[in-house]
Amino acid sequence: MAIERLVEPSLAPENKEEERVENSLRPTTFDEYIGQEHLKNNLKLAIDAVKKRGKGAVLDHVLLYGPPGLGKTTMAGVIAHELGSSLRVTSGPAIERAGDLASILTNLKEGDVLFIDEIHRLRRSVEEILYSAMEDYKLDIVIGKGPAARSMRLDLPKITVIGATTRTGALAGPLRDRFGIVHRLEYYKEPEIEQIISRTSKILGTEIKPEALELLASRSRLTPRIANRIFRRVRDYADVNGDGIVDTVVAEKALDLMEIDYMGLDPADRNMLRLMWENYGEKPVGLTTIAALTGDEASTIEDFYEPYLLQMGLIARTPKGRVITEKGRKHLQKT
Ligand SMILES: Nc1ncnc2c1ncn2[C@@H]1O[C@H](COP(=O)(O)OP(=O)(O)OP(=O)(O)O)[C@@H](O)[C@H]1O
Ligand SMILES: [Mg+2]
Repeated sequence: MAIERLVEPSLAPENKEEERVENSLRPTTFDEYIGQEHLKNNLKLAIDAVKKRGKGAVLDHVLLYGPPGLGKTTMAGVIAHELGSSLRVTSGPAIERAGDLASILTNLKEGDVLFIDEIHRLRRSVEEILYSAMEDYKLDIVIGKGPAARSMRLDLPKITVIGATTRTGALAGPLRDRFGIVHRLEYYKEPEIEQIISRTSKILGTEIKPEALELLASRSRLTPRIANRIFRRVRDYADVNGDGIVDTVVAEKALDLMEIDYMGLDPADRNMLRLMWENYGEKPVGLTTIAALTGDEASTIEDFYEPYLLQMGLIARTPKGRVITEKGRKHLQKT
């Protein structure tokens, strides 16, 4: 059975309440968006150029990729805001038929931004519609069936497509090639996570002591969504068991309750490491085997567990599979 995770940076917020909170915490401008300086500088330049060119100029299509919870959706909103454009949000799995995408596209206005989350999960037939929409701002449709069928090309408004994916490897080459700006979101640095938690604490009106801020930042997997989630849980703890102020005592206790260790790993991560070690030792093990051991989907391992464990050097990728590193083994002994 898969272990339920608090720190899972799941693709979608878990419920309506979380979605509401998440939206309320979303930065809307480049200034509010903390970190990812390289990405921000590139986008600022591109956006300034579009503005300078004036009427009729649109921003190149943008592809953002990287592990969940690093701020791809947030950045799409920031881009639209900075352009002064409207944002239309959809996702790969939500667009079932080519006709659905055609109707989305024909309802957009010049300069609008279309955000397609999980773009690697677009169906083939839908993807093909997207190609000409992105390349020539044209919509190719087939009317009728059989011998009477004929194809038509319609003009579309010039728009910017922003795609987000946790995996570029899963994206078809021709689709990837249609994005002028392709950028990987990096894990944040701890001081940046501190700034993000500090910002969140102000928005939510909860005081947090500097040492507690540092502590929470070091346990947040360098990921804003997790930082915000942990902060909210710690805040609950402070409200129930203390005077509502988050200090190190409260933070430590709440983190213990959540079983988050000093590296930010939760029971599910440690379970995966342990299973790898106990069953395979120093030998590499394939993704599907790991998934079978933990009871998760292989894609869950690949998207959620693995990126951070790799980033921290607890596991390594080899041509024959994943292998637990010495650092990983030491971590297991310590926890
Ligand atoms: N740079 C940032 N500065 C401040 N807060 C951020 C930043 N990036 C993300 N966040 C916060 O983290 C939360 C999650 O970010 P977001 O939903 O954009 O991640 P994502 O990369 O789209 O994740 P997924 O791949 O799961 O869709 C947001 O609610 C936002 O408040
Ligand atoms: Mg997102």
